[in-house]
Amino acid sequence: MKVARRFQILSIAVAIVLIGFNVSWPHEYSGDLKGIDPMIVAEYIHAVIESDRTLYAIHVVERMQDTGTAIASERWEAMNALPLPAQMLLLSGKRVQKMGVGLHYRLASLWPIYAKNGPKTDFEQQGLEAVVKDGSQPYTDIIEEGNTKFFVAIYADRAVSSACVNCHNTHILSPKRDQKLGDVMGGLIISFPVQ
Ligand code: HEC
Repeated sequence: MKVARRFQILSIAVAIVLIGFNVSWPHEYSGDLKGIDPMIVAEYIHAVIESDRTLYAIHVVERMQDTGTAIASERWEAMNALPLPAQMLLLSGKRVQKMGVGLHYRLASLWPIYAKNGPKTDFEQQGLEAVVKDGSQPYTDIIEEGNTKFFVAIYADRAVSSACVNCHNTHILSPKRDQKLGDVMGGLIISFPVQ
């Protein structure tokens, strides 16, 4: 058998073995598509955050409380309890911020339990006011900070269960005590660099 033919057979055999072991080379997107509409990116991020928060509330907090396994408490560290869903979201937002990819998100309100969760800019103030009036669409714009442009989206955060209103209406630090089921209690503010 000629050397070239042997080499050909050997190459095919190696390829079959590699495919069999599911060996693949890392693939990197070469970047020939130019950018995704930031509104779509915000929708993706919002979908992930909201799913995580809802599933944590239902499958961890509610289930553990119902079965008497653990309680959720604002003072979760001191009480050896589960963090509240809002606290989990804020913690994950801080962790993502530390990763330095430029993505920021947090829960905020015009009537925050803690002042740190109030609007930090005029844009946030206007956005929160807008979603309180009509929460069907996020309030969005491009904001410049230094030399960077950020896409910011503020999504309405509604009182989806009576637990939301009960806790916020009775919290000792809450400045608003007449929230009702279905009300927009605040907003989820998502921002990321687009330049
Ligand atoms: C057991 C009490 C409790 C429940 C239930 C609760 N929250 Fe909160 N929420 C808090 C606390 C405490 C904070 C502040 C957390 C922090 O900053 O550490 C907070 C923060 C927030 C904020 C940010 C503004 C602020 O008030 O500081 C929003 C918006 C919010 N919650 C909406 C909701 C919604 C919507 C629900 C229901 C899906 C809900 N919360 C359920 C206690 C609660």
